[in-house]
Amino acid sequence: MCGIVGYIGNGNGVEFLIDGLNSLEYRGYDSCGIAGISDEDVRVIKTVGRIKNLEELTPEDLVFNVGIGHTRWATHGGVNVVNSHPHQSASSRFTLVHNGVIENFQELKDRFFKGHNFVSETDTEVIVQLIELFAQDGLTTKEAFLKAISKLQGSYALCLLDKEDADTLYVAKNKSPLLIGLGSECNYVGSDALAMIKYTNKFLEINDGEIVIVKANSVDIEDKEGNLVSRNPFTPNIKYGEIDKGVYDHYMIKEINEQAFAMRNIISKYFDGKNVSMDEEIINNIKDADRLYIIGCGTSYNAGLVGKNYFEKWVRIPTEVHLASEFAYNMPILSKKPMFIFLSQSGETADLRAVLTKVREINSDYKFLVLTNVDASTLSRECDYTLLLHAGVEIAVASTKAYTSQIAVLSILAYEVANRLGYKLKLDIEKELSVVTNAIESILDDAKNIKVLADKLFTERNAFYIGRGVDYYSACEAALKLKEVSYIQTEGFAGGELKHGTIALIEEDTPVVALITNTKLDLNTRGNISEVASRGANTLVITLEKLAREGDYAIPNVNEELAPIVSIVVTQLFAYYAATGRGLDVDKPRNLAKAVTVE
Ligand code: F6R
Repeated sequence: MCGIVGYIGNGNGVEFLIDGLNSLEYRGYDSCGIAGISDEDVRVIKTVGRIKNLEELTPEDLVFNVGIGHTRWATHGGVNVVNSHPHQSASSRFTLVHNGVIENFQELKDRFFKGHNFVSETDTEVIVQLIELFAQDGLTTKEAFLKAISKLQGSYALCLLDKEDADTLYVAKNKSPLLIGLGSECNYVGSDALAMIKYTNKFLEINDGEIVIVKANSVDIEDKEGNLVSRNPFTPNIKYGEIDKGVYDHYMIKEINEQAFAMRNIISKYFDGKNVSMDEEIINNIKDADRLYIIGCGTSYNAGLVGKNYFEKWVRIPTEVHLASEFAYNMPILSKKPMFIFLSQSGETADLRAVLTKVREINSDYKFLVLTNVDASTLSRECDYTLLLHAGVEIAVASTKAYTSQIAVLSILAYEVANRLGYKLKLDIEKELSVVTNAIESILDDAKNIKVLADKLFTERNAFYIGRGVDYYSACEAALKLKEVSYIQTEGFAGGELKHGTIALIEEDTPVVALITNTKLDLNTRGNISEVASRGANTLVITLEKLAREGDYAIPNVNEELAPIVSIVVTQLFAYYAATGRGLDVDKPRNLAKAVTVE
């Protein structure tokens, strides 16, 4: 949540600050601002709404050799200009941007500033006021910054500007993502590499607890004890062109369309000839575990539910799927030899990081694998093992290609572990994933007809997806996608559960879409569809060609276990067309953010 940027150098940083914030807008987009030193004074420009509003407010001739910027997803205080970042100390000497949540901000206010009025309602303002307080006591800026940080509890990524020292940016992080980008005659700060990739492909990681002194020609990282740390830069696997919308109107439709490409990429990365190519230690850890704990949030959690099937059916290992936000604080009794599989597109999700901390407190030997789309993301660095999704950068807030890629990679992993355990599976996963890829392509080719169906179906305030078995999990994901981008209240239901309560909500024209990709459950789900149809529902069945009846939407036949990767694509298109048909900003739905870095 929230994105921050910083620039220091011999050029003009304004263009970078605005570009960087545009790239980070997916992290939060209710207000934004920049600040920098111009003519020896600090200039702050802030606004509610999108970065384009900030661009309009920024004079064309503005020059910052040093500057910071922020795009906000409000946590403390309403959405208004005063609460938006950057925040300043009382004398305006210090200016700060912050991503994260300071848990003890009220305590710090009461302790250090009793009786003082703060300008904003944010937790951030207390940090910048503390820095000024300590500087007034005679500390250098670095000492004051360190002392202020030592008082903070919670998460933060910080970038500080000092009016009296235009040659330095002070940077620190704890549990919130932050990177340094290395330029020529300049350096950059950003919440992620995407924010800086147009300007540099060389980055330095920062670890929790370190502080970084950034100047135009140097970057000094210091550990908690004040020792200088030497660290090699890395180059992530992304290119500037990848973050362009290209010929598409929105990122969401671009990313839906990239799913066949993502499948091919996964096949090429994870198969070496006919053999699966994956880190042996990952396979061995799963083989040796007595239970798997798959943990994720939102769409990633839904992918985990589909993945559970592969591990239970093919590997015959008990597998539990949990929501990270629940697991961290309501942990089940763990088995004797658990193995944890985290699913996280962004690799930054705070709820998952909380699980990692809590489980490691119980036993620091437990092993964690993360499936993520972002190389060198926080979770990738913190977990023992990483499997990359290779889906290409996902920018739309609603996750699409990462979801199908998560399921595909889980299927390959489970397949390989089953092989190693000597279970003879009756499928050639590489071949079946190629069939899946072709099936996705043929659905994408039929987008026009899918739009017509969406226009007919989603005319009401609410909607339902139903399914049984693994189709129930797809129904949950289809419902999440539709509700988050179109704001139609949608529920995903186990078909058989409707009659135990929810059927009371069915009225004339209520849309109910059934997913049927399992031959054994075909008749059961059709029974549920006819129950709602006889109560006036506007129904549609999405099913495999071989099971299709008149009026159904038929998807190409694929292996039934892998069919969730295909059927979901129709529902992603439904969500896209329902949202765009309502004139909504499908890439940036209200109240959401792409990387959820607060618990
Ligand atoms: C929905 C969506 C979210 C994310 C969730 C977890 O379309 O994208 O539900 O799946 O916030 O995010 P990651 O996968 O980055 O951990």
